Amino acid sequence: MNPVKHLFPACLFIACSGLVHADVPRTGKEVVNSVCGECHVSGKMGAPKVGDQAAWLKRIADQKGLENLTSNAIRGIRNMPAHGGKGEVTDLEMTRAITYMVTLSSNTPEVAKPYSSPVAMSGKTIVESRCAQCHGEGKHGAPRKGELAEWTPRMAKGLDVMVGNAIRGHNNMPARGGLASLSDAEMRSAAMYLVNTQTF
Ligand code: HEC
Ligand code: HEC
Repeated sequence: MNPVKHLFPACLFIACSGLVHADVPRTGKEVVNSVCGECHVSGKMGAPKVGDQAAWLKRIADQKGLENLTSNAIRGIRNMPAHGGKGEVTDLEMTRAITYMVTLSSNTPEVAKPYSSPVAMSGKTIVESRCAQCHGEGKHGAPRKGELAEWTPRMAKGLDVMVGNAIRGHNNMPARGGLASLSDAEMRSAAMYLVNTQTF
């Protein structure tokens, strides 16, 4: 059994997210086996199949590059749900999973950063349309928008960890605030705006 996975549920109770690093990115193969495979192995609803290079190369050509294809998978396109329907899958993990499905090779080195983190909306717009539902009044214990003192202790564990928790979900904070189509970059700018509305 994977010791990290085993530890994680217990850790949620004692809030040791900084310690366990739910944020260690999974390999492309792991993400495909646990999330994408559901549709991309059998070709459900017309999903291009894992390892069917011809089908993938045609899409890469149609979309004018792997970067756009990745961006579509992050936001969702037709029957392809944003982030494969799992908001906690990071943009980097999406990128790795796509590389794996295209090449079906475990020897390909894992990508170190996401191909594409589309930013369509500003942090302010995202906060006002979504995050403020909880972070306005502090619903379910959410730190309040612009109340720096409520954010400071959370930032002590490192900004990346904090943003990572908001992407993956954390206690009463749903993954990506419940909007799977937000990219990692958008989550980061929304988090920045929540912390300090003055500088944005
Ligand atoms: C519920 C089924 C389902 C799951 C789960 C799913 N996909 Fe898809 N995916 C689809 C379908 C259907 C399409 C074809 C959409 C179309 O072009 O009409 C697709 C297309 C894609 C494309 C091509 C997008 C384009 O622009 O042509 C990529 C890339 C992709 N998926 C990546 C992923 C990754 C990565 C995961 C796992 C994190 C995943 N998918 C999980 C159903 C799924
Ligand atoms: C349904 C309510 C809800 C929504 C919507 C919501 N949040 Fe949260 N958020 C919470 C709660 C509750 C916490 C505190 C969780 C905890 O640490 O116990 C939290 C915590 C956070 C944290 C701190 C995480 C940490 O490690 O301490 C960040 C960053 C964050 N939210 C960002 C966002 C962003 C960005 C959005 C909008 C895209 C958003 N949230 C939408 C409820 C929500």
